[in-house]
Amino acid sequence: MAQASEVHAGSAYTFDPFTRHQFYTDVNWTLIDRAVALVDDAHPRGDTLRIVELASGTGAITEQILDALADRGRPARVIGVEPSLDAIHVAERRLAGRPVSFVQGDAADLARAIGKANAVFFCNAIHLVPDKDAAAATIANVLEPGGFFATNSSFYTGAYAPGTERFYHLWTRRALGWLRTHHPDIRPSHHGKTMAMQWLSPADYVAVLERQGMEIALMEEQRVLMPLRAWQDIGRYSLFIEGALPGVPIPVGADALEAGAAQAFEELDLDTVPRIGLQLGGGRVR
Ligand SMILES: C[S@@+](CC[C@H](N)C(=O)[O-])C[C@H]1O[C@@H](n2cnc3c(N)ncnc32)[C@H](O)[C@@H]1O
Repeated sequence: MAQASEVHAGSAYTFDPFTRHQFYTDVNWTLIDRAVALVDDAHPRGDTLRIVELASGTGAITEQILDALADRGRPARVIGVEPSLDAIHVAERRLAGRPVSFVQGDAADLARAIGKANAVFFCNAIHLVPDKDAAAATIANVLEPGGFFATNSSFYTGAYAPGTERFYHLWTRRALGWLRTHHPDIRPSHHGKTMAMQWLSPADYVAVLERQGMEIALMEEQRVLMPLRAWQDIGRYSLFIEGALPGVPIPVGADALEAGAAQAFEELDLDTVPRIGLQLGGGRVR
């Protein structure tokens, strides 16, 4: 068992601070609550559901799944599957005492984690997977016939609200300027396209799910207003930094993006910047 201080140090650049924003809770709840309701309605009262959450991260979505199940009085076995041990430690602390367990792994470990499942959730992470078809095939494979898959992402073509391009442009420029001033020896690498940049369109995602025998039951795009602190929190998340400033050490990249966001907000005189998220759910029909 890691010491608390080690957990804290290792967790400094997690997604957790971003998940504490109210808009994040609200937008995810829209998907989770509807998906859990569909799964609940599809099974006889009293049956214990088997639910996997892939990329459970620091437990924000896990908590919502547990809350939605508890609201309906539905017994369930919930398992979070997550590659990062740091994130699992945060999730375990967050959800101590709740009926959930965590397994370190990725999509390939789904079957080992739970065998067949009544539902799989994969939230705010599908854009990180290079081969979406392979991931969807693995997910479809662990779903019972009639099982439900729910996913969402705000890293897809359509995520930039019209008129906000200049904010992203200025944020990047100011972060690079900060880097040149404070760490002139550090340059981002420009090799290849990072995973965080592999964006699909809504139609592409629908096609991926349909190729794996899923029928789309819900799909919508939702706009949220993100304040400066939210951009700074996402900018201090290690996977975001790897995508935005590839090759830059994480602590330095975090400080650069935090300062760059503040400068962009000030220069453009902004209170919030809107962002759009795609929510998608489908049942396995074959
Ligand atoms: C932005 S966080 C989202 C966490 C959580 N689902 C949420 O919405 O709060 C992305 C998560 O995906 C995980 N991840 C990255 N690559 C993955 C992969 N190939 N398979 C599964 N999870 C992955 C990361 O470790 C991280 O916890």
